[in-house]
Amino acid sequence: MNEFQPVCKMEELVPDAGVAALMQDTQIALFYVGGEVFAIDNFDPVGRANVMSRGMTGDLNGELMVASPLQKQHYSLRSGECLDNPEIVIPVYEACIDGDWVKVRVP
Ligand code: FES
Repeated sequence: MNEFQPVCKMEELVPDAGVAALMQDTQIALFYVGGEVFAIDNFDPVGRANVMSRGMTGDLNGELMVASPLQKQHYSLRSGECLDNPEIVIPVYEACIDGDWVKVRVP
């Protein structure tokens, strides 16, 4: 089983916003929202570009989500599911806070 690996320091995250990181060959978008970290793939499957880290975060009907900066689809930060079209899903990765470090389980 793959291990959690350190990606960045907590201080590098921006509350309520995203940052992009490269893990092995995978671009991920890290979000720090409500005291939790979330990691989803940075690739927008509709806009077909690596832009998800630039999306705006928020709460849609109680679900923490990020909106694509391109065409504004909303994706759950927990499941990666598009909230209007469950057939579209962005891969999510397990993320955790370990002291000063943000760790993600790489695919
Ligand atoms: S918000 Fe429109 S397809 Fe997801």
